[in-house]
This record gives sequence, structure tokens and C-alpha cells, in this order.
Amino acid sequence: MKDQVNDRSDKYGGSLENRCRFALEIVEAVANEIGSDRVGIRISPFANYNESGDTNPSALGLYMVESLNKYDIAYCHIVEPMMKSIECDESLVPLRKAFKGTFIVVGGYDREDGNRVVIEDRADLVAYGRLFISNPDLPKRFELNAPLNKYSREIFYTSNPVVGYTDYPILGTMT
Ligand SMILES: Cc1cc2nc3c(=O)[nH]c(=O)nc-3n(C[C@H](O)[C@H](O)[C@H](O)COP(=O)(O)O)c2cc1C
Repeated sequence: MKDQVNDRSDKYGGSLENRCRFALEIVEAVANEIGSDRVGIRISPFANYNESGDTNPSALGLYMVESLNKYDIAYCHIVEPMMKSIECDESLVPLRKAFKGTFIVVGGYDREDGNRVVIEDRADLVAYGRLFISNPDLPKRFELNAPLNKYSREIFYTSNPVVGYTDYPILGTMT
């Protein structure tokens, strides 16, 4: 979808419409197969990892959510531009307004930020990544406003089956 990596010259490259075509065709095909209410999509228009940036991510995001409206899917999940809700409150708002279905945001949220973005109607739902890795009972902790386990970056992406993803303590089991 991003113009900094897509160098195709067929109908999947060039214009914004062409670059988004493949993702939208997949959404349509999967929705036709299993029902649109069972299809969700996650997009990161603002991410530029691995040279995958776009020169106009806002336009890309807006085009995608507007195009997705016609499929009536279960949700659209979008990664915050700066991964810090506080710095980018405005950026996803046009996308939120344009998308007709359930709008999920992720990136840098804690309990308070997450509650606020929902109360202010800037999202329907908030997803959590790193806090969920270190807190397997995150919803319960949020409900109780309990302290959180700190995550350890060193063990992100580990392939160790017993350290990193499986051994963060649940409430009441901390030593
Ligand atoms: C260890 C780790 C692995 C991740 N793997 C993926 C992935 O496979 N696909 C993806 O879209 N995002 C992945 N993410 C990004 C998260 O889904 C999330 O967008 C990011 O952590 C920001 O949310 P947070 O601030 O709540 O952690 C990963 C993040 C972490 C920390």
C-alpha cells in the first residue's frame, strides 16, 4: 500500500487506489467466504519500519477506511502514528469519523489513556500489546486499577517456551 515500497506498474501499483487494491480484494474475498461480520483488518498507515513508509499516510488511511465501509466488516484496527496517544490525538480522528464500523486503536495506551480515548469517542475499543505481554490478566487489573507488571524488552520476541510470554505472574501469585 505504501508508495515508498510499492514499485509495481500494474493495477496494484502507482495510484493510491491501485496500491490499496490488493488489500481490499482480500477483504472482499474473505468476507464473501466467511461473512463480513467475521472479518477485521489492522492497518498501520503511519508505520515506516523497514523502509515501508508512505509520503501521505493520512490520505492512505482515509482512503482505506472509506473503501472498507462498503464491506461492513467487524472492525478496523489502526496503529497510532507516534505510538503515543498523547502526541497524536488528532491524527486518527478523521479516520475514526470516516469509518462506519467498530474502530480499534493501539499504540502506547495505558489504562487512563485508553479510557479517555473511548470516553471522548475517538475509538470504540483500545488494544494493548506490551502491557498484555507482561500482564496476562490485564483486563482484571484494569478493572481493579491494580498495579501492573513491567515488561522486559529483552525477552520480547523470545522463542523460549518458559520465559518471556508465559511466566509473568497473574494477580495474587506475585512473590
Ligand atoms: C513482542 C512484540 C511482538 C509484536 N508482534 C506484532 C505482530 O506480529 N504484528 C503486529 O501487527 N504487531 C505486532 N506488535 C505490535 C503490537 O501489536 C502493538 O501494535 C504495539 O506493541 C503497540 O501497542 P502497545 O503500546 O500497547 O504495546 C508486536 C509488539 C511486540 C512488543
